[in-house]
Amino acid sequence: MSEQYKASFAEQSFEERLHACQQHINDKLTALFSSLPFLNSSLGTAMQYGAVLGGKRLRPFLVYSVGDMFGLPKKSLDAAALALECIHAYSLIHDDLPAMDNDDLRRGQPTCHIKFGESQAILAGDALQSLAFEILAKQDMPNVALSDRLAMIAELASASGFAGMCGGQSLDLAAEGQQIDLAALEQIHRHKTGALIRSAVRLGAYSAGQPGREVLPLLEQYAQAIGLAFQVHDDILDVVGNTEVIGKRQGNDQQLGKNTYPALLGLEQAQKKARDLYEEALNVLTELEKLSYDTATLKKLAGFIIERNS
Ligand code: IPE
Ligand code: IPE
Ligand code: MG
Ligand code: MG
Ligand code: MG
Repeated sequence: MSEQYKASFAEQSFEERLHACQQHINDKLTALFSSLPFLNSSLGTAMQYGAVLGGKRLRPFLVYSVGDMFGLPKKSLDAAALALECIHAYSLIHDDLPAMDNDDLRRGQPTCHIKFGESQAILAGDALQSLAFEILAKQDMPNVALSDRLAMIAELASASGFAGMCGGQSLDLAAEGQQIDLAALEQIHRHKTGALIRSAVRLGAYSAGQPGREVLPLLEQYAQAIGLAFQVHDDILDVVGNTEVIGKRQGNDQQLGKNTYPALLGLEQAQKKARDLYEEALNVLTELEKLSYDTATLKKLAGFIIERNS
């Protein structure tokens, strides 16, 4: 990150930082896809469609925000940010498939399988997943030790796979139309969504080497709290959100008989749960502040997660 960029990053408001990060990651993704061979094939176009158009880019933002706490330049974090967003895009494309949530609207546009057909959408998800690991293994990461890069590859693999996101998605689908208790629901949410959010925080910390590892337990507590809060709020938006604003069909969870926080606890208690998790996240950040870390962005981000309207 140039000195000029660094200075402006420090002076920006939270909204400006988030917007700048969205712009940055969109540019990086666009450049990435235009550098791929066969981009004009259906597969390349479907991958680009699923990854580039829209999205809050919160996982990349987490990577940059955590990395920034350790004074890391943006360039050292780009690979992790891009890899996470590719995994996230793949998870959304597959989540929307008829065999899963059967959604026809995502980010205000027809879902990938509606636009390109199921087979291309499945392959676009698969190829985005491979691409994520290719990026983490190959892309320049200035000042990041090879051992840390390897740890990041292993981390993203477990967070996105059987013990993480895929495991959570499997439990989520198996529980459709079933009565489950709160502990089981928490388990689903911590895996299907929390795992990748925690991974974003971990990748940011790993990029920083030893200083990052020293405060990893605190960062992980923060990540656990916002990761669950993120999915609780996603569940709430399915009830109170507006299709035009959330960019996906409001009410789909109820139609599918999904287990969600509002379904199990009622809307008010679900909202309270999100606020409690937000408080939990802030308490952890107070501990990091005592160690002289600037946590202003992570604080705002925790608030954004439970207040966003999309
Ligand atoms: C949606 O994630 C899927 C969940 C894990 C709840 P986001 O709300 O981050 O989706 P985009 O990337 O902003 O569209
Ligand atoms: C999806 O949860 C989590 C993943 C994609 C891994 P949801 O099914 O609730 O996400 P949305 O509401 O479709 O975005
Ligand atoms: Mg789902
Ligand atoms: Mg879904
Ligand atoms: Mg949802």
